[in-house]
Amino acid sequence: MLHGKKFILGITGSIAAYKAAYLTRLLKKQGAEVKIILTPYGKEFITPVTLATLSDNTVLTDFFKHDDGAWNSHVELGLWADAMIIAPATANTIAKMANGVCDNLLLTTYLSARCPVIVAPAMDLDMFQHPATQANLKTLESYGNHIIEPATGELASGLEGKGRMEEPEKIVTWLEGFLKKKQRFTGKKVLITAGPTFEKIDPVRFIGNYSSGKMGLALAEALVEEGADVSLILGPNLEVGNPRLHRVRRESGIGNRQAEIGRISLIHVVSGEEMYKEAHEIYPDMDVSIMAAAVADFKPLDPKESKIKGKEKGFSIDLVPNPDIAKELGKLKRADQLNIGFALETDEGLESALAKKHRKNFDLIVLNSLQDQGAGFGGDTNQITLIAKDNKPRKFELKSKKDVAKDILDEIVRIGNQDQKLFP
Ligand code: C5P
Repeated sequence: MLHGKKFILGITGSIAAYKAAYLTRLLKKQGAEVKIILTPYGKEFITPVTLATLSDNTVLTDFFKHDDGAWNSHVELGLWADAMIIAPATANTIAKMANGVCDNLLLTTYLSARCPVIVAPAMDLDMFQHPATQANLKTLESYGNHIIEPATGELASGLEGKGRMEEPEKIVTWLEGFLKKKQRFTGKKVLITAGPTFEKIDPVRFIGNYSSGKMGLALAEALVEEGADVSLILGPNLEVGNPRLHRVRRESGIGNRQAEIGRISLIHVVSGEEMYKEAHEIYPDMDVSIMAAAVADFKPLDPKESKIKGKEKGFSIDLVPNPDIAKELGKLKRADQLNIGFALETDEGLESALAKKHRKNFDLIVLNSLQDQGAGFGGDTNQITLIAKDNKPRKFELKSKKDVAKDILDEIVRIGNQDQKLFP
């Protein structure tokens, strides 16, 4: 299962570093390639010689090789790996990762890595429970990292509690599960529309809505983790605090309309018309299209080129319909394509969601009702009802948008394999 996979194993200064030796051995036994980065304190707990022998690779500890001045490129390392595992991860390293501190090779590699990062904490129970550590772990998760919870038992301090680094066998099993799941969307091209659209009234005003694009971004992230090639057409929302998007912006400069990171290619648009053009162009190439954008239904008939002056009496704007992207793509849909839509309703909305599903030729519709607390626009949670081909609604619990994205992907795989075998 892990044969041919490339791992960076980061080892920090914890007594559990001895378990990292065994973890290296297990990964190597499965045919994986392992490159180890040891922090300066890590070296106090386990020797580079042991780890170099077990990993069959030079152990990296410094930015430079002191004898010949050669440089260890953290950027190359981060691009090389299929996954980076930090085991054991001390409270100190976790705190630095959460805050972007990069004063050693492991941390610079983490900050520039494009692969999934998995963190296996190891520390005393009180350190683990401390609100600062818990907040740092939450921050790391919100950045898209994965945490393998520590186990409960005897600790190096002599105390008993939660804080023992998870056993190497269990970490390997976790990695197998993670990488296997990843493969469900390998080779699949997925289009996502997300965020609001802004419809120009004049150079300083627009018609828009409160959509944050967070659900579409959570879907994009979940899909990339499962191997998909994602084209994300994103409406104008600069408030989205998504780290992956952050990275895209940093690399491309906000002015660029198209950028590529990992396997998300990001296309910035402003209006519904632009979103339609971009989506229409790439649609024939797509296997799955998820329309999560809150496209403005109407746009001003005659947007002005100069600012409309204040008028005491008020004025009216003539509106005309925007293209219905989902409906137009629904007309083009082939038997080997799946279209997924969203319905945001202010009431229960089952009937209206069903009608939308038929009208727009969706294979699956995701209903969120603004009646449910924590669902819909802006927040980090959502509560959804899925309606697939059988037209039977299935209501899910309130979850983080990340977990909601996983439920949606499971359903896409299920319906894709009902009549045809679209997914492995
Ligand atoms: O009709 P309503 O706007 O509620 O439909 C919602 C679904 O249709 C969503 O999936 C949304 O992304 C899509 N849609 C679209 N283009 C529009 C309006 C809605 O793609 N102009």
